[in-house]
Amino acid sequence: MRIVILNGPNLNLLGRRQPDIYGYETLADVEERCRRLAGELGVEIEFHQSNAEHAIIDAIHDARETADGLIINPAAFTHTSVAIMDALKTFEGPIVEVHISNVHQREAFRHHSYVSLVATAVLAGFGTNGYLLALRHVAHVLQRDQG
Ligand code: DQA
Repeated sequence: MRIVILNGPNLNLLGRRQPDIYGYETLADVEERCRRLAGELGVEIEFHQSNAEHAIIDAIHDARETADGLIINPAAFTHTSVAIMDALKTFEGPIVEVHISNVHQREAFRHHSYVSLVATAVLAGFGTNGYLLALRHVAHVLQRDQG
């Protein structure tokens, strides 16, 4: 069972970028925590980050062939990208959208998400724990549906 975790622009700077909002943990720290949990849950993960919209779209297309579930923090593309939304529409498994911050408490332009229109579930404001909660959920749903 394979779950792909995708991260959008500027998340490579996690830990150094606006730590008052996003915290001090780096993306490598988040990946390590996800890998540890994946081991406990008995699932495989792939973890990616890109600042480029096309690379995220390509990764979603690849996930169509290789993954059973998808977790995505599209970062700023959340609020702008019809193309990422359309790519996600082609993915057949569960999709969880994760935001480290509570986007609904922030500027009005962060309140709308194209990705939420196609996501199975959305987590916002749990800090980096959101990735782990999403991973637990997707693993549970996939293992349940596998019987
Ligand atoms: C974010 C929220 C987005 O609005 C922002 O552009 C990000 C990160 C979050 O994880 O809270 O880059 O997706």
